Amino acid sequence: MLGDGFGFINMRRLYLNVQKLHKNEIFELGIYPCKIASMQKDDVLRLLRDPSLVQPEKLTLLSNIAAQAEALNMPCCVVGGFVRDLLLRKPVNDLDIVVEGDAIQVGRKLVKAYGGRLTPHFKFHTAIWYLPHSTEFADLITARKEIYEKPGILPMVTPSTIEDDLKRRDFTINAMAIRLDGEGFGEILDPLNGQADLERGLIRVLHPRSFLDDPTRIFRAVRYEVRYSFIMDSVTQGLIDAEVTKVLASLSGERLRHELDLIFDEDGAARMLLRIASLGLVNSIHPWLPDFNQDYADFLDMDIRLDVPADRRTMGYILWFMDLSEDEVFSIAKRLDFTNELALSVWAAAQLRRSLITLFDSKPSVWTYALEKLPLLSIYAVYLVTRVQALLDYISLWRHTRPHTTGDVLKARGLPPGPRYGEILTQLRSAWLDGVIDSTESEKKLLESLLQSEK
Ligand code: CTP
Repeated sequence: MLGDGFGFINMRRLYLNVQKLHKNEIFELGIYPCKIASMQKDDVLRLLRDPSLVQPEKLTLLSNIAAQAEALNMPCCVVGGFVRDLLLRKPVNDLDIVVEGDAIQVGRKLVKAYGGRLTPHFKFHTAIWYLPHSTEFADLITARKEIYEKPGILPMVTPSTIEDDLKRRDFTINAMAIRLDGEGFGEILDPLNGQADLERGLIRVLHPRSFLDDPTRIFRAVRYEVRYSFIMDSVTQGLIDAEVTKVLASLSGERLRHELDLIFDEDGAARMLLRIASLGLVNSIHPWLPDFNQDYADFLDMDIRLDVPADRRTMGYILWFMDLSEDEVFSIAKRLDFTNELALSVWAAAQLRRSLITLFDSKPSVWTYALEKLPLLSIYAVYLVTRVQALLDYISLWRHTRPHTTGDVLKARGLPPGPRYGEILTQLRSAWLDGVIDSTESEKKLLESLLQSEK
């Protein structure tokens, strides 16, 4: 909606566009019952009961958790993305529950009352409760205070109040809670004015050291900007300075890749990467990191008809790094802590793209034996970018082509065990691929002549 040149258009104009779009969509079209900033308990209860936003099982889950926390006399809230998305009238996803008290104790009580399984993390006083006979789960968190001793290093935590727990968070729009226990069910806790920022479409950190404490928050901000057509407020964006960039450069490959993985999970991934580049962050991740080619953006959505295993993240990295040299690919793969499989997929695509020229006039059998060693997704990515027909023929047709003759047939014909089995079967397959034979009859004839030559 904001146009492809997201990272390059004048920021003020962009801001105004966002404001306009946001107001139009939200208020003038009457999508919301009232402005987000003035929503109260009754509005929240209405939203919570809207099955298009909160599945009924999730609502039951919330009240079950609330009942157990209340029995333990512990105030408890749902927080973060759930509240943000609910107020935006978007379907909610994960359940993050904060408890003033021991979350593991609440978890144990839930398992006792409703079954399921608990995975406690004693170090952080958190637990994940997996519901019985369901894929649903809830993150149970002991309300805490965080102290960052060193930039970029994970913080020290101590148990505290829900209000303190909100203050340790990344942005005002993620620092809101909805109370679940007792009479307070449905009340909004918004000590940092997240509702107002949500209404204005602004992403604002809670304190000036936020990005220094955790530079991955920049990636999170960019995800929200593109996902919701929001924008960082100018003070927040101004905090992305040389010092923050330096801390970002020191983050582990695993943490950086996790953020990039989350970006590739989103519809606006290509625009998010463009935005990260426009913030001057790409070089601090790796000096050879290229811009994501925006012409490839649509290729992130796979064509499932082709029966190629779909994996947006792998596809994203392949498209991003396909035009790099072997050295560049491996250096970036090392920095971002790629698995061997992911590094191989990216390398294979880059190699294939470079060597296409040597295959151009080859027979289908030559294409097939060259491509067969490479991951299917890498081949598909190179096809999308180059539109070389042979690649599509391989994916949809050639790779499935097999002769009717099998090893058992050759054995029955008295061929002694040895490498000739493979050779004969390969010759038959090549003949099918290259159109030399096209029927069971012609395959039989060819087989006879090959067996004759054995004698
Ligand atoms: N959070 C944070 N700083 C981070 C990561 C998370 O403060 N670096 C907090 C935010 O309050 C966030 C909550 O933890 O809302 C849950 O994090 P997560 O599940 O990663 O994000 P969601 O808010 O659920 O957003 P998304 O839709 O992107 O998953």
